[in-house]
Amino acid sequence: MSKKYYITTPIYYPSGNLHIGHSYTTVAADAAARFKRMQGYDVMFLTGTDEHGLKIQRKAEQAGVTPQQYVDNIVDGIHKLWKRMNISHDKFIRTTDEEHVKQVQKIFEILYNKGDIYKSEYEGLYCAQCEAFWTERQLVDGKCPDCGRDVEKAREESYFFRLSKYQDRLIEYIEQHPDFIQPASRQNEMINNFLKPGLEDLCVSRTTFNWGVPVTFDPKHVIYVWIDALSNYITALGAYTDDKSLYEKFWPAELHLVGKEIVRFHTIIWPAMLMALDLPLPKQVFGHGWLLLDGGKMSKSKGNVVDPMVLCDKYGVDAIRYYLMREMPFGADGIFTNEALINRINTDLANDLGNLVSRTVAMIEKYFGGTLSDNFVSADPDDDFIGIAKALKGKFEENMDSLLFSNALAEIWKLVSRANKYIDETTPWILAKDETQLGRLNTVMYNLAEALRLISVYITPFMPDTAAEIQRQLGAGEQPEYEEATQWGGLKPGFTVCKGNVIFPRIDMKKELEQLEAEAAQKAEAAKKEAEKKEAKKTEDEKPVGIITIDDFAKVSLRVGQVLTCEPLAKSKKLLKLSVDIGSEKRQVLSGIAKWYKPEDLIGKKIILVSNLAPAKLCGEMSEGMILAADAAEDDVKVVFIDESVPNGSQIR
Ligand code: ME8
Ligand code: MG
Repeated sequence: MSKKYYITTPIYYPSGNLHIGHSYTTVAADAAARFKRMQGYDVMFLTGTDEHGLKIQRKAEQAGVTPQQYVDNIVDGIHKLWKRMNISHDKFIRTTDEEHVKQVQKIFEILYNKGDIYKSEYEGLYCAQCEAFWTERQLVDGKCPDCGRDVEKAREESYFFRLSKYQDRLIEYIEQHPDFIQPASRQNEMINNFLKPGLEDLCVSRTTFNWGVPVTFDPKHVIYVWIDALSNYITALGAYTDDKSLYEKFWPAELHLVGKEIVRFHTIIWPAMLMALDLPLPKQVFGHGWLLLDGGKMSKSKGNVVDPMVLCDKYGVDAIRYYLMREMPFGADGIFTNEALINRINTDLANDLGNLVSRTVAMIEKYFGGTLSDNFVSADPDDDFIGIAKALKGKFEENMDSLLFSNALAEIWKLVSRANKYIDETTPWILAKDETQLGRLNTVMYNLAEALRLISVYITPFMPDTAAEIQRQLGAGEQPEYEEATQWGGLKPGFTVCKGNVIFPRIDMKKELEQLEAEAAQKAEAAKKEAEKKEAKKTEDEKPVGIITIDDFAKVSLRVGQVLTCEPLAKSKKLLKLSVDIGSEKRQVLSGIAKWYKPEDLIGKKIILVSNLAPAKLCGEMSEGMILAADAAEDDVKVVFIDESVPNGSQIR
């Protein structure tokens, strides 16, 4: 029976498109999963999306769609990305999956029934606008860090998880299982910064928004998104369904691979939940570092391309996968730049590996018509070269087992370099000029091809397409299972090479960087225009009367006028008939203010007249202008009077 291996990535928030930093976690998990599969393990590789919570609900609101529509759209893109990046997950879980939701509800019920979840009250600071609770510490200048508005003291009925109860058991477990939290530095951080100072019970339900899993026995509460999300690692296996076969086969997980900022959730809250559920704990939580951009965390605003889809289209999937795994020592932070990426592609991939493949294949074609024989003549550098090829297996496995992917690749590349040096040492082009050296030339070519075959096997977890292409060009045929495939001598004389395209074309660094800069500038310009368009539309939407320019306003002539006479209009209850002195002339004006003003209230007063309004006939009388008045209330109008000292006819601007 084969051994099993259960590996997970975090489930990603579908709150926007994923960037190259997210791909890092997933590619690393994929490399580990492919390595174990290659070794014959029965692998379950889980990834997915974490779709509930206030953050997503707000994003959906901003986008003007339902939360479900919002996440569906983004999750679609994530599926496409993982397909493009050759991610070989066995299952993709969404926390909106009905199967998951039901099991999370069950977990909550179990914990409630056994008393590990209890009802109480959350007390804290509340931003009504954002419907968010904050602690004093999180406020920015005493205001909501999200919207900058005032916060108020608030209480919310909440369920709590008895996290404090598990503090001692957690410390004990971590101390007795030094492999549980890796790298070790993160273990010290958890113990000293979080566990030893003391755990508080955790608020695990919310009532102020509804995009979440409802508590079955108290449905105005939705379950805290981290309780919902962490459960995915067992709900994906059907732990609380009728069919528990996957759960029984794969739990506990061998590895939860997570970014360092969420190690705390995975090594405190999650194990405490499992302890409360009487389930075994995962074997290991590995917290990797961040891929940084210019010293800051990933963000799309800077010039570098961080959209993994765009990067794959520009440079190829395997180049990106290689770069991610090679450039960053696992566990530590690394810095992403397009320049470093192009450097890696040119040096390691185009120069070292790519040239080795094309030279080897071209020479076998040129000197032997593509097929080698078993005419072998060993000589000096062979032992050293073959020795390095044979020793690679142990070093590769040791590094892979410790998740030291960068080191594993560095070991493989030692063989790549040694092979290139072997060509220089043996000078096949000189051997080819001497008929008596045919056996020697045949041997040199064989050793190169066989080393390349081994290299192709070892790079398979990182660059599956490239590995297959090298094997195709070598004519190596389908590779046997791992133990056999990693033995020297797998290629049998008689194989026929098949020239193919250059596997990694060289990139002109200067041109490429110029091109990237131009594209970034173009994008920034387009984004700016888009934002301006949006802003313009927003202001238009907000104003009931559309925006006018100063020139539009200048078309309106407003003049100060004095009411000379005023009388009710017989034919109308609403209208008063006024004569108004506007300096240069007298105007007859009808105004619908009879309900609020008597003639004596107006006679002698100075008002503002729209003096260039087209004359109109109302109830058989002419009106030449309009008096300004304010809607003071639902059913109250106040005429705008102006100071008596202002001369009649004055222009108002
Ligand atoms: O945390 N470099 O989701 P998430 C390296 N939904 N890794 C990065 C990165 C970067 N620049 N940016 C993000 C969540 N990541 C929760 C997880 S699990 C039960 C719930 C990594 O989408 C990050 O460290 O914010 C994390 O491991 C993963 O992407 C998902 O982040
Ligand atoms: Mg995050």
